[in-house]
Amino acid sequence: MTFPTLEHLRTLPLKQQPSYPDQGKVDQVVERLRSRPPLVFAGECDDLREKLAKVAAGEAFLLQGGDCAETFDGVTAENVKNKLTVLLAMSVVLTYAAQVPVVKVGRIAGQYAKPRSSDTETRNGVSLPSYRGDAVNGFDFTAAARVPDPERLLDVYNASAATLNLTRAFMTGGFADLRRVHNWNRNFVAGGAMARFEKLADEIDQALRFMVACGIDGDQMKTVDFFASHEALLLDYEHAMTRIDSRTQQPYDTSGHLVWIGERTRDLNGAHVELLSSVRNPVGIKLGPKVTPEDVLGLVEKIDPEQEPGRLTLITRMGAGKVREALPPVIEAVEQTGRKVVWVCDPMHGNTFTAKNGYKTRSFSDVVEEVNGWFDVHDDLGTWPGGVHIELTGDDVTECVGGSGGLIEQDLESRYETVCDPRLNRDQSLELAFTVAERLTDGRINRHNPVQAFVPAEL
Ligand code: PEP
Ligand code: CO
Repeated sequence: MTFPTLEHLRTLPLKQQPSYPDQGKVDQVVERLRSRPPLVFAGECDDLREKLAKVAAGEAFLLQGGDCAETFDGVTAENVKNKLTVLLAMSVVLTYAAQVPVVKVGRIAGQYAKPRSSDTETRNGVSLPSYRGDAVNGFDFTAAARVPDPERLLDVYNASAATLNLTRAFMTGGFADLRRVHNWNRNFVAGGAMARFEKLADEIDQALRFMVACGIDGDQMKTVDFFASHEALLLDYEHAMTRIDSRTQQPYDTSGHLVWIGERTRDLNGAHVELLSSVRNPVGIKLGPKVTPEDVLGLVEKIDPEQEPGRLTLITRMGAGKVREALPPVIEAVEQTGRKVVWVCDPMHGNTFTAKNGYKTRSFSDVVEEVNGWFDVHDDLGTWPGGVHIELTGDDVTECVGGSGGLIEQDLESRYETVCDPRLNRDQSLELAFTVAERLTDGRINRHNPVQAFVPAEL
């Protein structure tokens, strides 16, 4: 695997990069990042690739989720803990209700840069550069805040390091212990899905007590494998964070375990595809409704020439109304190459609309509709629905309408906190997990996968 220089990458078609006022400062920051310790380790990326190979083989399910855009202010113990808690709870729903091993990956510890459809934002006749994430510029609508500042890349490194440190502590230090499943939601008001979760937690408690009584040691319940992922958008940062692993002599992007290429930057001959085809991390690619089978074939051959299971995660985000039509030709084209990829449904990005009061939102029913369409397509084609990719938060925000809490457009005004796309709140996220678990359980009757059928009563 040869690793391209940053100079070479900059000669390729390159989209969605900040226009920094001073290139000299960018180069200095890149040099400083190059000497920083890796945030994740090569062996961990290999471990995730092997786990994703199991997903590709239909033996596990991927849960990937987190903020659309993390913020530096959001790096607090409370915020990180709430996000991890909802992901853990969703994964427990999937593992227990659908009896599928779940590979857990956060959109976390690095998701600070955003592609934008327009270079400028206009408010009341004033136009300023668009906010491109805390990695690039400030969210405040002032000329000073919106100037891209390369020093922010060092802040991304520090914020990611702090978040990962906390995440590792939560996942291995006892908090994630399944025997504490009841404690996870202790401070939360029980909503619709939360009540359902509490019931499931009771069942898990009982099952665990039974196991302990049988003399089965709970060591495996104590810790959880959790991985970090983000969109590899800023070439300077991702290139600067790449290290040659001393054991394998292969390049790894050590900014996160899984890195993905967004819908707007997946040009076959572009710099993003070149960079990610040159690192050993598992790689994700977002695919929107207009993608052609030829586009996808070009990408999979370039990024995964060895047809290595676990290397590629194809994250489709077609929209509720389009998934049934747009997805089958894409799956068929990839299947015909003989490789096994992880098929993931992102039911968020194809379903965004502007509410009458001006808020960018998504409807929970559209999200569910896309998930259902995606499951139906996989069931028709006999392929394994590998996982879901969700924008969510552990907090009680009001950013997406619908769900059992019955949020309406007016509610968007009360707790709309995202700096980018609208996220499912805690209750909506859990509700979605139950829906996905049901589909996994139902489909098992028709699907020939190695996961054994077991449906707990009333789930
Ligand atoms: C995102 O995941 O936040 C995003 C911008 O997605 P996409 O590239 O699919 O539009
Ligand atoms: Co988003």
